[in-house]
Amino acid sequence: MEIIPNFVVFEGGDGSGTTTQLKMLCDRLKNIENFPFFSTFEPTEGQIGKIIRSTLKKETFLQPNTLALLFAADRNEHLDAKDGIMERAKRGEFVVSDRYALSSLVYQGIECGDELPLFINSLFPAPEVTIFLDIDPKIAMDRMKNRSSLEIYEYHEFQEKVRHKYISLIRIYRRNGARVETIDASLSAQEVSDQVWSIVSSLPIFKQ
Ligand code: TYD
Repeated sequence: MEIIPNFVVFEGGDGSGTTTQLKMLCDRLKNIENFPFFSTFEPTEGQIGKIIRSTLKKETFLQPNTLALLFAADRNEHLDAKDGIMERAKRGEFVVSDRYALSSLVYQGIECGDELPLFINSLFPAPEVTIFLDIDPKIAMDRMKNRSSLEIYEYHEFQEKVRHKYISLIRIYRRNGARVETIDASLSAQEVSDQVWSIVSSLPIFKQ
C-alpha cells in the first residue's frame, strides 16, 4: 500500500467531532514557529465538492453510484491538483484533512455495496496516519440535535451502520499496512485533542 508521509486524516461518523478536532489540532500547529501546515477537508470547496454538498443537503438528487463517483473525482482533484495534498506533502508541508478515502469506503460502501467504492478508490495512497474518532451514534446524534437541518446520512440507523463499517474496514486497512489510531470520541473535546496531539507530535516531521 502506498503511503503519503506528512499526511494525517480524521475519520469518523457524523457528529464524532472530526471538524472540531481538526481545528483544535491547527490551533496547536499555529503555535509552532515556522511550521508549514495545510488544513483541508472533503468534500472540497471545488466544483465537484459543491455538487456533492448540494446532494448531501437534499437540494439535488443523484443516484448513489453517481455520488460515489463524484466523491472519488473530488478526491482526485484534492490529491493531484496544483497545490493539492500530494504536491504539498512532497514539498514538506504537513497536511491534515477532515475525511478522505476511508469515508467513501464506509458511506458509499453502505449505499452502493463495497465493490464500486473499493474499485474507484483503490489508486489513492493512504495517509501516514488515520485518526478514527469512535463514538456511539446515539451520543453523536444527540450532539447534532441542535443543527437546523440534517444531511442525507445523518440519521441513527445509518450511523449505526457507519460505525460498524468503520470498525470492520479499519481491520482490513491495517492488515494492508495503513496506520490507524482509534480515539474514544465520547471524551471531552480537550481530552480527545490531547490524545490527537500525542499521536501527531510523535510523527517524524516533528523530530526534524
Ligand atoms: P462532514 O465532515 O460531516 O461535513 P460537514 O461537517 O460539513 O457536514 O462530511 C459530509 C458528509 O459526507 C458526511 O456525512 C460524510 C459524507 N462523506 C461520504 O459519504 N463519502 C465521502 O467520501 C466523504 C469524504 C464524505
